[in-house]
Amino acid sequence: MIDILPISTQRTTASRLAELDPTNLEFGKVFSDHMFAMDYHNGEWQEAQIVPYGNMAVSPANSALHYGQAIFEGMKAYHQADGGVALFRPLDNWARLNTSAERMCMPTVPEELFMQGLRELIRLDSAWVPTGSGSSLYIRPFMFATDGFIGVRPSESYRFMIFTSPVGLYYNKPLRVRFEQKYVRAAPGGAGYAKNAGNYGAAMYPTKLAQQEGYNQLIWTDATEHQYVEESGTMNAIFVIDGKVVTPALSTSILDGVTRRSVLELARDMGLTVEERKVSSHEIIAALKAGKLEEAFGAGTAATIAPIATIGHEGHDYELPVVGPTAFSKRVGAALDAIRTGEGADVHNWMVRV
Ligand code: COI
Repeated sequence: MIDILPISTQRTTASRLAELDPTNLEFGKVFSDHMFAMDYHNGEWQEAQIVPYGNMAVSPANSALHYGQAIFEGMKAYHQADGGVALFRPLDNWARLNTSAERMCMPTVPEELFMQGLRELIRLDSAWVPTGSGSSLYIRPFMFATDGFIGVRPSESYRFMIFTSPVGLYYNKPLRVRFEQKYVRAAPGGAGYAKNAGNYGAAMYPTKLAQQEGYNQLIWTDATEHQYVEESGTMNAIFVIDGKVVTPALSTSILDGVTRRSVLELARDMGLTVEERKVSSHEIIAALKAGKLEEAFGAGTAATIAPIATIGHEGHDYELPVVGPTAFSKRVGAALDAIRTGEGADVHNWMVRV
């Protein structure tokens, strides 16, 4: 396996940067000038290249389109207080990409290749990293099968790519969510812990039903008893109950979120008790009724910290207390922002300069 590949770079002759409105960054709509791609053939990654962002030709018979052999990551680069650019915990995303790859019978990407492609792409498009408060360059590494073959077996060839998109806040107000107790996102022993495309496609229908009822997102529950919290929408779910930070323990049906992990590490740094365990819908509603549910929020790369204002359960909507600036979610959000922008001390060495 080659650990370092020469990357051929074809720069765009028609940058779209001047068309970008940094005051109006809608998530996922605008893509920066270049993208990274490399192909896996004959057991090796090869042909690493950076090319102008654009459409590409693939076989219509590939297993990503037919059988879902497709995985992705979400990560971010931040403009630094000193003018540079840094990535937040990129090796955590690299490791998770490979966990997903293994689950989906896809090749892993060596750390050096992942970091080399990422660094060169972000350096080339560094002018696309937005500087405004709450904004960042969202990075989407992904891999998909490329064999032109519709027999059901793992593809022998793949493409790994990275493109980027300048983004602002994903949610601009506290969320209305409801427990989902009919449909499930993932089952024990399934692929819920992997970041494979199918997990997201299959979540869209139940989410659409909830949105038609006026909710923004769901709180997914377990596949067996339909009562234990799994995730909220595309985020991990975190609660503050009676002064303790409580979140579902990781399992084969829960994504090991990098933001979740960071929030829990910062909570421990702040001296708070963190409990990673089963959390039922009944516990949440009982705590809410008793005035002990202090906060609920989603934690994810795209959404960062997304406060929950309302929780629907069995036909009733419950309002959470309005949180002030000293609330845990606000303090941990501010601590994360300070680390990401280089304004706060990065005691865990999470930031990696490009
Ligand atoms: C992320 O937070 O990066 C996600 O994967 C959520 C999403 C936009 C699919």
